[in-house]
Amino acid sequence: MQGHEKLEKNVGLLAFFMVIAVSLGGLTQIVPLFFQDVVNEPVDGLKPYTALQLEGRDIYIREGCVGCHTQMIRPFRAETERYGHYSVAGESVYDHPFLWGSKRTGPDLARVGGRYSDDWHRAHLYNPRNVVPESKMPSYPWLVENHLDGKDTAAKMKALRFLGVPYTDEDIASARSAVNGKTEMEAVVAYLQVLGTSIKNKR
Ligand code: HEC
Repeated sequence: MQGHEKLEKNVGLLAFFMVIAVSLGGLTQIVPLFFQDVVNEPVDGLKPYTALQLEGRDIYIREGCVGCHTQMIRPFRAETERYGHYSVAGESVYDHPFLWGSKRTGPDLARVGGRYSDDWHRAHLYNPRNVVPESKMPSYPWLVENHLDGKDTAAKMKALRFLGVPYTDEDIASARSAVNGKTEMEAVVAYLQVLGTSIKNKR
C-alpha cells in the first residue's frame, strides 16, 4: 500500500495530519501579523481614553450596547459611504477588550464621534423616540441619575497601562477627580464623541 492510500484509509491518521496541515495554514496567516507595524502600532493621533471616556466605555459594556452596535466598518463601498473610512487595526490597539461586535441591530458606531451634538446623544439615550420616532433602541433614563464616584478609575487605568496603554502618572493621579460627581450620561456621551475621531480627516 502506498503512503497516501494508507493515510486515506486510516481515519485517525488522516485526522492527525489534517490538524497539522490546517495549523500550518493558520500559523502562516496569523504569526506574521504579530510583527507588522500596521497591525500593532497605534494610528497617528490615537490617544488613550480620558478617565471620563474610559468610564463611559465601561458603562457601554455594562448596558450591552455592543449587543446591537458594531464598531467595525468593513472596507466595502456600502459601508464606507454610510459610516466613513473603514476601521483599521491601529485604531483599536488601546482597546482592552475591543468592542468590534458582530451584531448590527442598530448602526455601526465606529465613527459616530462628532456626528451628533452632546444634546442629541443625551436626548437619544434618555429615550431614543425623542429624536428618532421610529427607533427600536431601548431607553437608558437611569444614566442621568447615576453618579460616578471614580473610586476604581485609577486602578482601571493602571491595569490598562500594564497592557501597554500609555497613561502617565498624572493621568492616573487625576483620574478620580476627573470623574467624581459626573453622571453616567456624561461619561457615555464623552465616550461616544471620541469614537473614530483619530482618523476622521480621512473621511
Ligand atoms: C436592542 C438593540 C439596541 C441596543 C441594546 C442599543 N441600541 Fe443604539 N440603536 C439601536 C437602533 C435600532 C438604532 C437606530 C435608531 C436610532 O437612532 O435610535 C440605534 C441608534 C444608536 C445611535 C445613533 C447612531 C447613528 O449613527 O445614527 C447611537 C449613538 C446609539 N444607538 C448608541 C447606543 C448606546 C450608547 C447604547 C447602550 C447604552 C445602545 N445604543 C444600545 C439599537 C440598539
